[in-house]
Amino acid sequence: MSVVPEKAKSLTRPELFDFHGVLMTHNFTNNWEKVENFQARPDDVVIATYPKAGTTWVSYLLDLLYFGKTSPERQTSIPIYERVPFLEFAVASFETGTEQADKMSTSPRLIKTHLPVQLMPKSFWEQNSRIIYVGRNAKDSAVSLFHFNHMTYIQPETGDWISYVQNFMDGKMVYGPWYDHVSDWWEKKQTHSKIHYMFYEDLIEYTGREIDELCSFLGLSHSAEEKEQIRAKVQFDQMKNNKMANYSTHIAMDFKVSAFMRKGKVGDWKNHFTVAQNEQFDEDYKKKMKNSSLQFRTEI
Ligand code: A3P
Repeated sequence: MSVVPEKAKSLTRPELFDFHGVLMTHNFTNNWEKVENFQARPDDVVIATYPKAGTTWVSYLLDLLYFGKTSPERQTSIPIYERVPFLEFAVASFETGTEQADKMSTSPRLIKTHLPVQLMPKSFWEQNSRIIYVGRNAKDSAVSLFHFNHMTYIQPETGDWISYVQNFMDGKMVYGPWYDHVSDWWEKKQTHSKIHYMFYEDLIEYTGREIDELCSFLGLSHSAEEKEQIRAKVQFDQMKNNKMANYSTHIAMDFKVSAFMRKGKVGDWKNHFTVAQNEQFDEDYKKKMKNSSLQFRTEI
C-alpha cells in the first residue's frame, strides 16, 4: 500500500452525505466511477459485510484456504489488507481498492466490500462471481463499530455512546442502516445461488462446521487435517497476535485508542447497553425487522 504517513495523519474526519440513497463518506465514494465499472472475474471471491461483522476474520480464513499451502510467504510478509483489497476504499494518499484489485496476480482474487447490495458493481452479477456475506447481530456490530470509529480518522465523528446508539437505530451510519444492509443481502441470497450467507456467531461457535460449509460453497477440497490447522490459525488470539492479520501495521488506525482485534466475542453489547437502552433497541429492532425472516443470535 503506497502511502504518505504524515499526510495521511493530517486528514480530518469525513462527513456523511446521501449517495444514491445511502449515507456514505467521500472515503468510499471518491473513486466511484472505477468502482461502478469494476471488471469482475468469474473466479473472484467477494467478502461482503456491514462493517465489523468479521470481514477480516473471513478474509484471513479464505486466504489460508486458497493460498496457505501454495504461498506460505504471504502469511509472513503481506498484511491482510493488501492481500484482500477493499473495493470502494478511496482515502487520500492511499492506493485505491480498485487499483489494488486490478494489479492482483492471484487467482482467485479475494475482494472485500461493505457496499449494500444495490450498490454492488454490476459486473459481479454478470460474471456470476461467488460472494460470501457475513452478518453479525446488530448490538455487537454497533459496539464494535463504536470502538472502531474512535480509533480511525477514516470514519466520521462518532460522539458519545448514547447519541451513537440513537444514530445506529436511525440508520445515520456509513453504508446506511444495518437493518437494510443485512436484510437486503439476505433477500438477494434467496434468488442468487452464488451468495453464501454466514453468521459471525456461528463462526464463533461452530468454526469447523463453518469452514466445511465454506469449502463446499467454494468447491475446495482440503483434508480434515488441513482444515484443522486452518481452524487453529484463525482463532481470535492467534489473529490478534499476528501482525499480518491484526491491522497493527495500518497507519490510519490508532491502537492507543482501541485494538482492531478488540474482543472477538458474542455478547459484548451487555457491557455497553443500559437496561433501558436495550429495551428501546429491542422494541425498535422488532419493528424494523418484522418483514425479514433473518434471525440473529445476540448470545451463544
Ligand atoms: P470486536 O470489536 O467485537 O472485537 P471487521 O473485520 O469486519 O472489521 O470486524 C472486526 C470484528 O471482528 C472485531 O470485533 C474483531 O475483534 C472481530 N474478529 C476479528 N477476527 C476475529 C476472530 N478470529 N475471532 C473472533 N472475532 C474476530
